[in-house]
Amino acid sequence: MADRSGAPGAGAEAQLLLDRCDELAAISSEPDRLVRVHLSKEHKAANELVAQWMTEAGMSTWQDAAGNQCGRIEGSEPDLPALLLGSHIDTVPDAGRYDGMLGVLLAIQVVSRLRGRSLPFAVEVVAFSDEEGTRFGTALLGSRALAGTWDDEWWNLTDEHGITLFEAFQDFGLDPARLPGAFRRPENLVGYLEAHIEQGPWLEDADRSLGFVTSIAGARRFELTMVGKAGHAGGSPYDRRKDALVGASELVVEIERLSKQQHVIGTVGKLEVFPGGVNVIPGRVEFSLDLRAEFDDDRDEALRLIHEAAEEIASRRGLHFHAHEFYRADAVVCDLDLRAAIEAGIRSTGDAAPLGLYSRAGHDGMAVVAVAPIAMLFLRCKGGVSHHPDESVTRHDVAAALDAFEAAVLALAEAAAA
Ligand code: GLV
Ligand code: MN
Ligand code: MN
Repeated sequence: MADRSGAPGAGAEAQLLLDRCDELAAISSEPDRLVRVHLSKEHKAANELVAQWMTEAGMSTWQDAAGNQCGRIEGSEPDLPALLLGSHIDTVPDAGRYDGMLGVLLAIQVVSRLRGRSLPFAVEVVAFSDEEGTRFGTALLGSRALAGTWDDEWWNLTDEHGITLFEAFQDFGLDPARLPGAFRRPENLVGYLEAHIEQGPWLEDADRSLGFVTSIAGARRFELTMVGKAGHAGGSPYDRRKDALVGASELVVEIERLSKQQHVIGTVGKLEVFPGGVNVIPGRVEFSLDLRAEFDDDRDEALRLIHEAAEEIASRRGLHFHAHEFYRADAVVCDLDLRAAIEAGIRSTGDAAPLGLYSRAGHDGMAVVAVAPIAMLFLRCKGGVSHHPDESVTRHDVAAALDAFEAAVLALAEAAAA
């Protein structure tokens, strides 16, 4: 493919960003895989490194009341409303090194390029503290604090060690009482742009480096429990068993079948069997459901069918089924003006007809939209692989993304000045 990244030195800048992704990937709570969760000491170290890069790019920096790392350059005069650029720096367990991080680094590099220009808005970069929800289950905690959609019930969420979110804030050096200070008023914001790896194969299949996002799929997440009765693996005849795992397994397969049928995306990513003995009939199974779709109505109809299937399986097998919803984010449509700026940015890299696609993955913009219009730039990732250490991008595509992201900001500046 021809190298479309036109700016002189773009390849070197892209390499710098890839090197920085490697540096961030080294900040992990585990030696052999990347895990960096919300409010951990690794989160603190990553914030410090990101703050250093923000400073080098000419920004004033601060960590907000929710642990989001922020940086800002002023526009043509002080205190103008800000265009936010950003992504997240927390990870899933055994993560790749580009999901979130690359978007933060692209944003910082765009600011570095724009430094010294007189823009009709301030530009801020936010490295969100928690998009994945790995530690406390509920995702988007950083961006929801910024958007003022925080729910005080979340303070009691616990991590796998029983530490509450409230305690984790204090351990990190944050004061929970000050959380409202992270809220950003809509009148002080121009919009939010995020660059992110695609996390799907569509750009690669279409032989494109970049694409613009039309909307972000809405997701709902549940803890599911199937309860039966534990018993001796040898002494229990089949017609008297209440095997919770066989029931849960049936439901897992049914979730896939119904999700395909309803054109939604259903995933069971966690499953624990109790009591967990090789010669014991499983008495209880706890498992997860992540259900997402381009349109919320489709997702909710699939959910209704999954519930029906679960009840039917449970009653046929003499089991009890419970579902507890712990996360919900509805689908979000990208703002047409911001989207047009992203499209113009992509066109400036030589792609005359940019590809639009909806994001199957969740992003901080789903929360930020409560206070500002949002849009996103996607860049191709190898094989569409993400949430896996094999995540991979090319220097060429990173250079193109940098050019396009900068051009998108300049297109907005031009529109705002007109
Ligand atoms: C976030 O990465 C998600 O699960 O969509
Ligand atoms: Mn992710
Ligand atoms: Mn992400």
